[in-house]
Formats: sequence, structure tokens, C-alpha cells
Amino acid sequence: MTRKVPVRFGDRSYEVLIGPGVRSALPGIIDKLGARRVAVVSARPDEWVPETGVETLLLPARDGEPDKNLATVEALCAAFVRFGLTRSDAVVSVGGGTTTDVVGLAAALYHRGVPVVHLPTTLLAQVDASVGGKTAVNLPEGKNLVGAYWQPAAVLCDTDYLTTLPPRELLNGLGEIARCHFIGAPGLHGLPLAEQIAASVTLKAGIVSADERDTGLRHLLNYGHTLGHALETATGFALRHGEGVAVGTVFAGLLAGTLGRITPDRADEHRRVVASYGLPTALPDDAEPGTLIELMRRDKKARSGLTFVLDGPAGAELVADVPERAVAEALARMERAPLDRLVAPAPAPAGAAGTEAAVT
Ligand code: GLY
Repeated sequence: MTRKVPVRFGDRSYEVLIGPGVRSALPGIIDKLGARRVAVVSARPDEWVPETGVETLLLPARDGEPDKNLATVEALCAAFVRFGLTRSDAVVSVGGGTTTDVVGLAAALYHRGVPVVHLPTTLLAQVDASVGGKTAVNLPEGKNLVGAYWQPAAVLCDTDYLTTLPPRELLNGLGEIARCHFIGAPGLHGLPLAEQIAASVTLKAGIVSADERDTGLRHLLNYGHTLGHALETATGFALRHGEGVAVGTVFAGLLAGTLGRITPDRADEHRRVVASYGLPTALPDDAEPGTLIELMRRDKKARSGLTFVLDGPAGAELVADVPERAVAEALARMERAPLDRLVAPAPAPAGAAGTEAAVT
């Protein structure tokens, strides 16, 4: 069954198709765009790339931060020129979030913008990176420093791509799904994975349609991310993004509880929800609170002091100038575990998505 989620941006609106085999919708989408040529940039085996129905240039790519830079964007644009790609043609990305980010930026810049269709192949890219139009590459000075908002013409989340994902790669996406419980999509745990993806994308679609340029509401998507980013950095990226977000979500609950914004039971609900996905809930043993606090101070959403998206009586909202004392207290209340235990995926509890059988 194919689920269709509309992402509304007036005449730039598009659909996210979710389900097994939805990559086969690509030729129809290319036909509707009126493109006569397509450049497909793929970080996956050739057999993962669907037919486009038109003359196609297949360009290989590699997922990962090392290729997420301006040199890759330049090389892609140069290849588009040599192929004769025009402004009325289209670009397609096939791969994880770093690939959709870099290809999205190349599409935004080439001839000042050509249509792009994303075929995300990881759970993280399906529930987050490919939807909402954020594209970016890294500079030696830092991550995601050069980018553009460039909405895709369509996103095809083919759940068949997920059946061979390693368990930790699935967990990476489940971290983003788990935090949806606290920003408007509760009760996803235990649903078939395709439904969890559709619900997460529906939530994100509503938020980004209301705040494309990340001036307010879109901050909600960063629930659990302030500590999550700090943990990724502090562990030298041994903790993956979704794992950091999972631990950061537990912490966001404890911090909101410490500040008296939510009840102790609601704070503990954060730990229970995250654990129900088989995700880590504890801080690594050797993560120094002082280091984490300094890293969190540098978070890009922190315009004023320590800033977090926190649950409260009116739901989740951005809270600035959180007292350092409260942050330290909440960190002290976190459980601790050795890093190698945190990153060894626990067997998914009964009812959790993430097994092949749950990919429907
Ligand atoms: N990944 C967060 C956003 O799209 O705003």
C-alpha cells in the first residue's frame, strides 16, 4: 500500500510517497515535470536506481560527510553541463541524508534551480533529511555552513530500500521517529514501519509548511537535538545522530521536569518511549557534564544562553536562557552506561518496528 503525504508550499507543493516499491513512480513524475533528460546521482548499487523513462546520466556518489562539500557540488554541476542538462530537465538523488543534502544543493544552484526528486534509502533520510527542502554542505570550518532552501518536486520513500539496512542504521532513523511522540505525533510505537514513516513525515510536513525558513515552529523538529548534537561531538561521532537524539530526548524530559514544566511521570514517559524502540537512554560513562554544557551552549539554535526545545503545559516550545544549574541537575539525574553498551543495539522490544517483518 502506498501512502501519500502532501507537503504544502503553494505552487511549490509536492507529495511524499511512502511504501514498498514506490520508486517505480519515478517515470510518471519525470513525465509530469516535462523533463527530457535526467541526471541521477546515486550512492547505491545500479539495480536500486529505477527507470526514469528519459535519457539518463547516472553519476556515482558516496554517502558520508567527507564528500559533503562544495567540491562535490561543483563536480556534479560540471557533469550536468557536459550532459547538456537544461533548466527544464531534472535531477534525482538516491542515497542517505548526506547524498540528498549535497544533490539538493547542486539542484538548487544549477541554472539557479532545477527540479530535484529525492529517493532516500535510509530511515533517517526518509523521515527527516529528504523532506522540507533544507540542503547544505560542510566547510572545513563546520557542518552545514553553506546551503539553500530548495523544495524537491517529489520524495519517494521506498520501504523496500530499508529491508537490508543494518540494525544501527535503522536505530539512527528510529531516534527521529521516537521524538515525534513529544512534538505532535504520539503513539507511533508498534505501528508498521511504513505507518511510522508516514506519520513522522506528516508531522514534519505540517511544521515545515508553516515555517519553511526555520524562524519559529520548525525549531520543534530539534526536540532532543541540543544534547544529541553535543553527544555526537563529545563521542567523536561514535554515537550516531539518531542515538544522540534518543538520549537527548530522555534528557529533555528530565530537564523539563527539573524546571517544573511537566510532571515526573511525563518526564519518565520520555525514557519509556525511547526505550520502547530499543534506543539508548543513558549518557556514556565518560561524558563530562562540563564538556556537554559547553557544547550545548554553542548549539546553533542557542541565540540566548542555553536553549532547548522543551515539553510544557502548552506542549513543546523553544526555551531560552535555561539556568546552567538546572541543566547540570538534569544531567546528573541521567543514567550512565559504557559507550560500547549504548551503541550495541538492544534486541527490539516486542511490537517495536525495525524488523524486516515490520516493513510493510
Ligand atoms: N532536520 C530539521 C529540519 O528539517 O528543520
